[in-house]
Amino acid sequence: MPGIVIVGTQWGDEAKGKITDFLAKDADCVVRYNGGANAGHTVIVDGKTYKLHLIPSGVLHGKRVYIGNGVVVDPQVLMDELENLRHEGFQPDLHISDRAHVVFDFHKLEDGLQERLKGNLRAGTTKRGIGPTYSDKTARFGIRIADLLDEEVLKSKLNILINLKQKIISQVYNENVKLDEQEILKEALQFGRAISDYVCDVSAEINEALDRGETVIFEGAQGTLLDIDHGLYPYGTSSNTIAGGACTGVGVGPKRIDKVIGVMKAYISRVGTGPVPTELKNSIGEKIREVGKEYGTTTGRPRRVGWLDLVPVKYSIRLNGIDELVITKLDVLSGIDPLKVCVKYKCEGRTIDTIPADIRTFERCEPVYEELEGWQADVDWRRIAKEGYEALPEQAKEYLQRIEEHLKVPISIVSVGPERRETIVINK
Ligand code: GDP
Ligand code: IMO
Ligand code: MG
Repeated sequence: MPGIVIVGTQWGDEAKGKITDFLAKDADCVVRYNGGANAGHTVIVDGKTYKLHLIPSGVLHGKRVYIGNGVVVDPQVLMDELENLRHEGFQPDLHISDRAHVVFDFHKLEDGLQERLKGNLRAGTTKRGIGPTYSDKTARFGIRIADLLDEEVLKSKLNILINLKQKIISQVYNENVKLDEQEILKEALQFGRAISDYVCDVSAEINEALDRGETVIFEGAQGTLLDIDHGLYPYGTSSNTIAGGACTGVGVGPKRIDKVIGVMKAYISRVGTGPVPTELKNSIGEKIREVGKEYGTTTGRPRRVGWLDLVPVKYSIRLNGIDELVITKLDVLSGIDPLKVCVKYKCEGRTIDTIPADIRTFERCEPVYEELEGWQADVDWRRIAKEGYEALPEQAKEYLQRIEEHLKVPISIVSVGPERRETIVINK
């Protein structure tokens, strides 16, 4: 199975990082294809926590890691992440696409200003400059990694971009901020020199790796409902988070993807704004948030949580062509009885089981629930993880079976704790 995409099926934070790390053991390399430092992928190994924003989660296994052209790269975050990993004794074998775009501080500033202007339409962004950087890329104002290696090119491109940004900041947003062109140029050149050894044509390298029969994991960031085209527009991010994004965001043909693995939480979480039909604003929600430690990896914001909603996952299966599902955080639901699972919505007298394009319609969607029996609070998940699927509480097995039955996609892995070893592979 050489080309494997790992994709989030909900609103992000499904534990893609943990699962990528788990599967990376048997892979040769891992490549990120979308997003930027808005991503926060957590991997916990032997009690030690690693939070990765830009470097793919395969790095902890010492695998080759790639940042594809579809990623927007924040220099400071990347340098800090590299330094932290080296400090922990890792030697990241990192490769960065010459075609990836660079996030500047003025993008982050603009991100905040845009959110302020948008009012109710704001997505509650991570303020990592994601939207403005992708906008500049699409408008062809952007600065790419390759530009950082050529002072003349960088100087002329930055001059145009900084002039434009200065006008936007001063004249559109009336902010008293003066961009220092010389300083920005100096820092960009410094960053270029610091990463020059890692810069390459990632598309060429990944295609060659696949030609050699290597296993390549394409690690998605965010989730399907945050996709720029298919997500809950405008309450999403600015990249194609779906599996198709792996082709454009790395530069491989669709036939190079052999398997798509969809990661889903056993409930839902959402950090940011916009409608969430199964959101729980009560003591059960609080319990899930506390037990599941549902606070943003990137921003620390409390995540909104709710009952498992299978409508987005079904939508995700269609959009991503998901072959297998991974259920994470099953342990968090211990002691909650009954458990509710949303299987469709009621909306203005109609029943729907997909995500409407119109956000006003989605706002009016009321979940239709099935109730399932919960399992006891005191479960020894470490023991179960060691013993395997059969050791799961009967009610937990029924919960998983109901999900499979409804979605008609097999569950291949169940995660029952944040640690790498708290993972059950299902061999049916
Ligand atoms: P990602 O962005 O999809 O990689 O997910 P995050 O890392 O942002 O959020 C997932 C959170 O859940 C992290 O804090 C993980 O350490 C944690 N986690 C992952 N899998 C499990 C699990 O099975 N059980 C529990 N309790 N926590 C988990
Ligand atoms: P990972 O990879 C969860 C959300 C933000 C906001 C919207 C737009 O860790 O799953 P942006 O900063 O991208 O312009 O914000 O998307 N968001 C995420 N939510 N997990 C993420 O990444 C996210 N990345 C962005 O909260 O609502
Ligand atoms: Mg995350």
